[in-house]
Amino acid sequence: MINDTTIDVLSIVKLKRDTHIQSFDCGDSDSNSFLIDDAKDYYDQLMGVSYLVEYKEKELAAYYCLFTDKIVFDFSDKSDFKRKWWQKFNKKNKIHFKKHRKNYPAVKIGRLAVASNFGGKGIGRFILDAVKLMLIENRNIGCRFLTVDAYKNALDFYQKNGFDFLSTEDENEDTRLMYFDLKDVIQSY
Ligand SMILES: CC(C)(COP(=O)(O)OP(=O)(O)OC[C@H]1O[C@@H](n2cnc3c(N)ncnc32)[C@H](O)[C@@H]1OP(=O)(O)O)[C@@H](O)C(=O)NCCC(=O)NCCS
Repeated sequence: MINDTTIDVLSIVKLKRDTHIQSFDCGDSDSNSFLIDDAKDYYDQLMGVSYLVEYKEKELAAYYCLFTDKIVFDFSDKSDFKRKWWQKFNKKNKIHFKKHRKNYPAVKIGRLAVASNFGGKGIGRFILDAVKLMLIENRNIGCRFLTVDAYKNALDFYQKNGFDFLSTEDENEDTRLMYFDLKDVIQSY
């Protein structure tokens, strides 16, 4: 677990076209190359905003990328299973029956990666906490859930940070769709 002193020396910087990106290695080549090759194009095309987490304002410790998303219920699928799943989702997340919708606003964590030499120090958790706070504090736009297509090797990491699986249908896929109810942060205040 990272100690407060270390958290104090982490800063979050929004990545823009002219931002200098240092070399970065988190052990996952897709995540490495997204930052180096794609993140600025996503920014220019309004498709995703990336944030750099810097250690002592000079060393690149981690990055993440966010874009809008939604949790959708497919009403064309009339199966009882889907309908019951949706009822269960509404009940579990205590969504008032008057607010039941076929989709709910969300923000997706498109990428989240911590440099290997900074791993296991609580920086991943620091990022998730910062994103949750940013979304509920600003409240410039309605957003109820955080979502992520989680890599298999990161499922426990997200579960430890309060994320749940949306469905069992992707159990055998390379990534699993997980979500976090931002209302939980407000209630824990
Ligand atoms: C997954 C990743 C983001 C975790 O970052 P991190 O800074 O090392 O994680 P933290 O130190 O904040 O860990 C928080 C908790 O999750 C646990 N955890 C972290 N990574 C884990 C993993 N891969 N599997 C199981 N538990 C994990 C930690 O043990 C810790 O638990 P604790 O509170 O009980 O001690 C990082 O390993 C990474 O960037 N991996 C490569 C890219 C990747 O897989 N990204 C996820 C994309 S979906």
